[in-house]
Amino acid sequence: MAVNPLILELPRSIETDRLIMRPWQQGDAQQLHKLQQESWEQFNKWYGGTLAKEKTSKDDMKAYINGALSGWYDRSWIEFVTFEKESGKMIGTASLHHLDWSVPKGRIGYIVRNSAGGKGYATEMANVMTRLAFKFLDLKRLEIRASIENPASNKIPRKLGYQFLTVFEKNKASVNGDLWDLEIHVRFDAKDLPKININWSE
Ligand SMILES: CC(C)(COP(=O)(O)OP(=O)(O)OC[C@H]1O[C@@H](n2cnc3c(N)ncnc32)[C@H](O)[C@@H]1OP(=O)(O)O)[C@@H](O)C(=O)NCCC(=O)NCCS
Repeated sequence: MAVNPLILELPRSIETDRLIMRPWQQGDAQQLHKLQQESWEQFNKWYGGTLAKEKTSKDDMKAYINGALSGWYDRSWIEFVTFEKESGKMIGTASLHHLDWSVPKGRIGYIVRNSAGGKGYATEMANVMTRLAFKFLDLKRLEIRASIENPASNKIPRKLGYQFLTVFEKNKASVNGDLWDLEIHVRFDAKDLPKININWSE
């Protein structure tokens, strides 16, 4: 039977040994702006959208956050913002997007600011989001798509035991118009994910 996504309960806070993930709040705009200004070139190369722009204002970040909150409530785009417990610093985001509730299925996305890169945070967030997708949303299929030229991203599904399916050639345009060949990785459940301590709070 089709899932009614509007009645699904989502955790309001997720804690791992190193990270806290929660939905956006209006007051996050300033911190997001700092993160974005520090890392826009990376996001421009590999991600896109508002966060990939060189010149942005705090108001642009407010608009981004409101867009994410709107997606949260209509369950079209479920994004968590992530903080490093040790420093309290905002380090990135992880989301479920392209949600198709008729199956239901979706895809995971992630970004990590430059100064927090290489610590395994994206892998940890993707591990959490994979568990969330099957535990709370009952998804039947979950994908991670990443450019074949973006090893920092396409290593993550491999480290998390996703099945590599194929490469979709010239499947997505980058901000500057380059066409990316995308690796498609898939999971149908959360079995045998690398172990991680998670505290889910309602
Ligand atoms: C991709 C991104 C999220 C990775 O974040 P991260 O927290 O640094 O990732 P992790 O620390 O979990 O590392 C993932 C793996 O990639 C490797 N890696 C990181 N940077 C790399 C690079 N430039 N080249 C090759 N491998 C790299 C890491 O070493 C790690 O593999 P390992 O555990 O075998 O050593 C971050 O770089 C980012 O936000 N990039 C821009 C946006 C983006 O690409 N998003 C994904 C779009 S699909």
